[in-house]
Amino acid sequence: MKDFAGRTAFITGGANGIGLGLARALLAEGVKVAIADIRQEALETALETLDNQEVIGLRLDVASRKEFADAADEAESRLGPVSLLFNNAGINLFQTIDESTYDDWDWVLGVNLHGVINGVQTFVSRMKDRGEGGHIVNTASMSSFLAGPVPGIYNTAKFAVRGLSESLRYSLAPHRIGVSVLCPGLVKSHIYASDDVRPEALAARGKPVDAAFNTQLAKVHEAGMEPDEVAAKTLEAIRENKFYIFPHPEFRDELREVFDEIIADYPKGDAPVERLAFERGRRENYRKARAAARGK
Ligand SMILES: NC(=O)c1ccc[n+]([C@@H]2O[C@H](COP(=O)([O-])OP(=O)(O)OC[C@H]3O[C@@H](n4cnc5c(N)ncnc54)[C@H](O)[C@@H]3O)[C@@H](O)[C@H]2O)c1
Repeated sequence: MKDFAGRTAFITGGANGIGLGLARALLAEGVKVAIADIRQEALETALETLDNQEVIGLRLDVASRKEFADAADEAESRLGPVSLLFNNAGINLFQTIDESTYDDWDWVLGVNLHGVINGVQTFVSRMKDRGEGGHIVNTASMSSFLAGPVPGIYNTAKFAVRGLSESLRYSLAPHRIGVSVLCPGLVKSHIYASDDVRPEALAARGKPVDAAFNTQLAKVHEAGMEPDEVAAKTLEAIRENKFYIFPHPEFRDELREVFDEIIADYPKGDAPVERLAFERGRRENYRKARAAARGK
């Protein structure tokens, strides 16, 4: 997609951080924008700072299928058909898997994975039916490649968002709907304060909130990339229909190191001819799907 002007975008987690940066960048391109967020007050503040007639705020918990469908209906009735979707809302929980409860799992997967699934389920059929193309960006993280003990559930969700996005990209390419996965490193945002939006219904924690650690995290995020820079790089990647959006240059060597370790663990040897015949065909199809999705 080269031209954004006149289209409508729907951005989850749009009241702050990367989502708000995307809203600013899209408005500057002449896009009508719905920012959807769980925090009503933050939405109001965001709308004031944006100070633009072409943007609306919608209260939405992305973990709710019903709320998602309602927010989509409202966005489209007020701004027109959505053809740019940013499944960006996310929270983090800095603890290991062995310290986690079912409520911890339900909260983090509910927002970071099901939030994306709900966005896809709500909007993809609408976008396909209209036949006007479009683009979907799902915000994962470098944590969709690099797993540590902390944050275990977050890693699980972000790896899944990457897989979902790649698969979706191939099925939507024939409909001229691009799909990208945004994989930022450190960004200057409020994600360290995620506990503020944890629902009471999922309050059983594996681990109490560590206020001192959170203060430390706030300082770390101050050194993060500006959301406006992430947004500018994201729009550039949409124009080029790239699958991976890597705004941060500092992970290249680490990715190579990790991929090299994977390949080093890979066994050498021959496979039976019948299996190879199947894999050869599958591999060729996968190659063609990647090329077709890039428009090559
Ligand atoms: N900040 C980073 O360093 C970083 C790095 C990699 C990836 N990310 C990802 O970027 C995305 C955006 O996060 P951010 O860094 O801008 O953080 P942020 O906290 O500044 O913004 C996220 C927004 O999502 C909203 N939100 C939280 N739960 C929600 C829910 N259930 N429904 C709707 N909205 C909800 C919050 O209210 C907030 O406004 C997330 O998916 C996050 O995982 C962030």
